[in-house]
Amino acid sequence: MKKNKLKILRLHDKFYLKENRYKKPKESFKFLVRLLKKLKLNFKNEIRIGDFGCGNGESSYYLINQFPKANIYGFDILPELINKAKKNVKNVKFFTGSVLDKNLTEYNTYDVSLLIGVLAIFDDFETALNNLIYWTKPNGKIYILSFFNNYPFDVNIKFSKSKNWQVKKPKFWESGYNVFSKQTISKFLKGKKRVKDFKFYDFFIKKSLKMNHKDYLRSWTINSNKKKLLINGTNLLHTFSFLEIKLKR
Ligand SMILES: C[S@@+](CC[C@H](N)C(=O)[O-])C[C@H]1O[C@@H](n2cnc3c(N)ncnc32)[C@H](O)[C@@H]1O
Repeated sequence: MKKNKLKILRLHDKFYLKENRYKKPKESFKFLVRLLKKLKLNFKNEIRIGDFGCGNGESSYYLINQFPKANIYGFDILPELINKAKKNVKNVKFFTGSVLDKNLTEYNTYDVSLLIGVLAIFDDFETALNNLIYWTKPNGKIYILSFFNNYPFDVNIKFSKSKNWQVKKPKFWESGYNVFSKQTISKFLKGKKRVKDFKFYDFFIKKSLKMNHKDYLRSWTINSNKKKLLINGTNLLHTFSFLEIKLKR
């Protein structure tokens, strides 16, 4: 008997249409800028930054204010988010398209490529990582913020709102919380000719976030051993790291 495969959707990102945190940057963006400032990049020169999966452009907004001479290019799959970014963020160029499409942009183009909060949507991390390596210049850097597992397991998460449950299955599954292990990612990167080295920087939020009763997919913090851990309505802990990848000259 032929099994009907259920659709896997990603619906939650439309909340960025209502969110306006341009002037209140996320702690993760500040953490990223601290990492970027440690690099020997000359941000006074016209370096190119690619912000892949840029959403409504909040990260690009923060970056262009931090590095006004940089040329920043933002890409996102949702045209409505790109339209919003274009209206709200000046001096950044925005484009609609998928980071899974190698032809989204050109080979060897960016000094810094970013993928913030996007990788966990995909069941396969390799396509996005291969593309980022392809689009980044020799000696360029890639920063990926995602959930990475310290333990040797890759975890594939699909969820469905309870209201969508039908007989024996939901109407569709949603994605966004896949966790790849640091071990799997490291093995993959060690096999890449263009990669010089890479490092994971674990990231913990400092401010407390309250549960949002209108949207349980928004994360909130719980306290554990003086650290704040992020969790959401999927009941899974979100352990974030920035993966820094440096390419060879
Ligand atoms: C959690 S949001 C992060 C947005 C932004 N980077 C930030 O940190 O504020 C994930 C973003 O990835 C985008 N996205 C999902 N699949 C994508 C794809 N295949 N190509 C490009 N963007 C994608 C979504 O539309 C959404 O804006």
